[in-house]
Amino acid sequence: MNIIIGSDHGGFELKEICRKFVETRGHCRITDAGTFSEDSMDYPRVAHKVSRAVSEGEYARGILICGTGIGMSVVANRYAGVRACLCHNLFTARLSREHNDANILVMGGRVIGRGIAIEMVDLFLSTPFEGGRHKLRLNLIETD
Ligand code: RB5
Repeated sequence: MNIIIGSDHGGFELKEICRKFVETRGHCRITDAGTFSEDSMDYPRVAHKVSRAVSEGEYARGILICGTGIGMSVVANRYAGVRACLCHNLFTARLSREHNDANILVMGGRVIGRGIAIEMVDLFLSTPFEGGRHKLRLNLIETD
């Protein structure tokens, strides 16, 4: 699976941890869209890069991290076909896949710890979409 990850300065530390985790995981290739330091930068720049790449099908999944995760999810969900889910724990990470078919996982680098974040990424990459009634609901997002 091809994955793209990005953060602003508020998510930089957690982004590095998550990227390294995915690199050690089998069957995944991960591209780092930046940022590459803790210097202050504007989160929409990275959010656009990652979201556009997922929207255009260049990557199957994306991961976005800013301080709260809020700004990144606001930008990402403007893109066609992107379902960016701001998750805070294992429950929301699992349900974002099972019910929402999330293709971008968004997290807050100043909100959650590194241990939880790694487990959330693991769930995001391994949990299948349930389909059925949830597929009908996703279709309604696109058509209504
Ligand atoms: C940066 O200070 C912070 O605003 C950003 O990381 C994010 O939380 C925005 O939603």
